[in-house]
Amino acid sequence: MAAVELPEGVERILFSEEQIAARIREVAAEISDRYRDEDGLKLIGVLKGSVFFLTALARELTIPVKIDFLAISTFSGGARAPGMVRIAKDLDDTIDGEDVLLVEDIVDTGFTTRYLLQTLAGRSPNSLGICTLLDRTTRRIVQVPVQYRCFEIPDRFVIGCGLDYKQLHRNLPYIAVMNPEY
Ligand code: IMP
Ligand code: MG
Repeated sequence: MAAVELPEGVERILFSEEQIAARIREVAAEISDRYRDEDGLKLIGVLKGSVFFLTALARELTIPVKIDFLAISTFSGGARAPGMVRIAKDLDDTIDGEDVLLVEDIVDTGFTTRYLLQTLAGRSPNSLGICTLLDRTTRRIVQVPVQYRCFEIPDRFVIGCGLDYKQLHRNLPYIAVMNPEY
């Protein structure tokens, strides 16, 4: 592989663009299989982090798909500080009676995902699942049922494929680890 110029503060690449694409294809095949007999699957993305993963996943699905987005904000301010979550921008449409897959960039402490699951479950979907690009189970504080995960990652801050450091680097096609001293 040709050497890639890494942005300042980035230590190393954890998963290459090719590895990510291959893994998304595998997970998409599982999801297509699971939802084949349903009337269609609604992917719900959490802005902004899950946008890149959601579109990549959606393009690999072989079943009819709808998409909708919501945005959340945390009261705590710190990038990794777990805390209270609220919906800053809600879905455009109802999910009543639909098969819904919540698509996340990363499940870390689990606070965000648990809040979203509880909120969405209260809107009477036919089914509700979670699909995440990254899972960092070593930092989990509240348990959430993750049905589909592309990669388990170590306890390091990562960027790329939708994940940001101070809102930067979401567009990197790979997942990289930040230098902890940066
Ligand atoms: P949780 O509520 O602790 O599970 O945190 C989830 C949110 O924290 C994610 O949706 C991300 O926005 C952010 N986050 C957690 N870990 C990282 C990381 O390593 N890089 C970038 N953002 C992260
Ligand atoms: Mg973020």
